[in-house]
Amino acid sequence: MTDISSILHGGYHHPLSRSWQGTTQLTKSMLIYPLFITDNPDEETPISSLPNQSRRGLNKLVPYLKPLITKGLKSVILFGVPLAEGTKDSCGTSASDPNGPVISAIKLLRQEFPELFIVCDVCLCEYTDHGHCGILREDGTLENEASVKRIAEVAVSYAKAGAHCVAPSDMMDGRIKGIKLGLIEAGLAHKVLLMSYAAKFAGPWYGPFREAAGSAPAFGDRRCYQLPSNARGLARRAITRDLSEGADVIMVKPAANFLDIISDAKQVSPDTPIAAYHVSGEYAMLHAAAKAGVFELRKAVEDVMTGILRAGATIIVSYFTPEFLEWLDE
Ligand code: PBG
Ligand code: ZN
Repeated sequence: MTDISSILHGGYHHPLSRSWQGTTQLTKSMLIYPLFITDNPDEETPISSLPNQSRRGLNKLVPYLKPLITKGLKSVILFGVPLAEGTKDSCGTSASDPNGPVISAIKLLRQEFPELFIVCDVCLCEYTDHGHCGILREDGTLENEASVKRIAEVAVSYAKAGAHCVAPSDMMDGRIKGIKLGLIEAGLAHKVLLMSYAAKFAGPWYGPFREAAGSAPAFGDRRCYQLPSNARGLARRAITRDLSEGADVIMVKPAANFLDIISDAKQVSPDTPIAAYHVSGEYAMLHAAAKAGVFELRKAVEDVMTGILRAGATIIVSYFTPEFLEWLDE
């Protein structure tokens, strides 16, 4: 006879009892949806590397978002995609252009959707002519101090325009402190959330995003500022550092291959919300696999997200957000 202590099946035979075994449950309020915003107001161009995602101009934004908000969309993260000639330079001047796509979109969305929580990715790579995330020295390496100063200016300009959250993805050293001080000085630190891409790893997963945002580096790569993917200890140090500099939320990115890092973040700071960014390459890969008949898309996506939550994330940035707004209603 089976030992009494061996019997587990009885505890999860019924769908409801299976849900009781769960430690976390995905809800709509955990999801942040990435949007690519161009400077051409009437543009709506599908991004070939990212199925079902488009670059949109200002005039296409509200009609696109309205039904999603009706279905329960709570938050978006904005990425600017300047396409006009001559908008890029060596220090990313147009990142904080008051008439640029991001600042215009913040104002528009605040006005049209007062309940929507607006996150702004803060980086220079979409706005620099060299495509790197900071300002460079003559030898092509990063000028950290100047980069932090510029990144902080950009973050404060988004906060002033009405962003609820600024999320620096540039990976410069000391930028969290620089931004926090900037927010304090601007009188905005009490109402703007600072989400750090603290543990952001270099690797092959951002390709579709860079195509969408036109932000691939013109030379070299990002390995001297984004973390090496074998660096679990360095990631813990970066998380600790960013918390000490004033980060309100810690992000781990990419998500699915970095569940140990998510769980480390949770362990390093159990009282801080942890976000995971399920990035463009992870999204495109699931679509490609489903298309090839490897699995049913929804089942795989749900399982990946469950893993991310199980590891300790409480916020997920995902291109699958529109799907989840429907799936979570069923
Ligand atoms: C900008 C930025 C990137 C992503 C978020 N912010 C690209 C990069 O670092 O090259 C990636 C998001 C994705 O792949 O979905 N620094
Ligand atoms: Zn960047």
